[in-house]
Amino acid sequence: MASATKGMEGIVAAQTAISYIDGMNGRLFYRGLDINELAERSNFEETTALLWYGKLPTQKQTESFRRKMSENRLVPNEIIALLLLLPKQATPMGVLRTAVSALASFDPATGDNSLEANVNKSIRLTAALPTIVAAWERIRKGLWPVTPSTHLDHAANFLYMLTGKEPDPVAARVLDQCFILHADHGLNASTFAARITASTLSNLHSSITSAIGTLKGPLHGGANEQVMRMLLEIGDVDRVDQFMRGAFAAKKKVMGFGHRVYKADDPRALWLQRLAAQLAELSGNQRWYQISERIRTLVQAEKPLPVNVDFYSASVYYTLDIPIDLFTPIFAISRVAGWTAHVYEQYSDNRLIRPESEYIGPLDVPYTDLNSRV
Ligand code: ACO
Repeated sequence: MASATKGMEGIVAAQTAISYIDGMNGRLFYRGLDINELAERSNFEETTALLWYGKLPTQKQTESFRRKMSENRLVPNEIIALLLLLPKQATPMGVLRTAVSALASFDPATGDNSLEANVNKSIRLTAALPTIVAAWERIRKGLWPVTPSTHLDHAANFLYMLTGKEPDPVAARVLDQCFILHADHGLNASTFAARITASTLSNLHSSITSAIGTLKGPLHGGANEQVMRMLLEIGDVDRVDQFMRGAFAAKKKVMGFGHRVYKADDPRALWLQRLAAQLAELSGNQRWYQISERIRTLVQAEKPLPVNVDFYSASVYYTLDIPIDLFTPIFAISRVAGWTAHVYEQYSDNRLIRPESEYIGPLDVPYTDLNSRV
């Protein structure tokens, strides 16, 4: 029997036309379009349509898509009632996973796995994720959720639902760019989880529930929250060197660095670095950006590790006044665009994903009677 490849490194487990990572050169493409150009010129809704339909929408398609997204922002009252039942200390990612799973039972097309039904479910899900995350943020603070706006775009509406105030346009555009940058990324762990679930012909909501559970971990999407906790623990740029010496000596992993595919810096991280610098300048608070820059210099002098998407997003979200444990849910709010696109792709040419394991345990172990066991 062939031996196991730990972590499936180097294994090609699917074909995809959705996104391509050129890890050697630090480039990322959605449907062939360079991420840099999309972050500069597109918006989340258009990027989502690009991922789902394969090409940029026309003006008419864009208008209709934006309208459908904004019309589907309200979640059933029963979902809000469910959130009210959860303990206030529940993690927002755990709450999001539970709410998405519950949404399956309220979706009008829940039993229909056709492409048309799945696109409609994806619109409803993508529109609903910000509503759930913002509602949870309000509920756990003892506040009533804010009814979604129908005129603000996806990113601005999320910020609005957190506070009940129309957001600053710069903040809204920065978050919109973050959403673009996080929308898809090849066969990352959460997307693979979504595709495995879809490959059993389970439904879209089950696939997205699997993906949210997988994104949550600190080696994947959960790293952005850990980065911010590290920045706060360091607290001042003068303390970075000492902190990092300790981290290197203890052989600790530094969150926000390293990647299975990138050998060069992650292009999304470089965009986020610019956004972090811009927000530091505008807010007049350079502290988190300066600490981040010093960490990066020291880490990359110690080891040739690429900076990844989770490193600068931490200080960007923090400067936007977003609570730390919402950083990973924000990732999910964006990545649902990619997850759903991968689920359609999996269904369109499906074969059950079922790898093998290399058995390393004993065989023919005799059964011992209960009273003879030690
Ligand atoms: N800090 C310090 N050393 C690191 C780091 C890091 N962040 N990442 C990798 N290394 C080192 C490992 O210790 C290992 O060294 P060794 O060969 O001397 O033992 C070597 O680089 C290879 O690391 P692996 O963990 O085997 O690499 P893998 O491809 O399995 O893991 C991962 C990739 C999980 C991203 C890893 O780099 C990591 O844990 N990074 C920190 C967490 C993080 O930022 N995750 C977000 C990734 S992006 C995303 O998912 C959205």
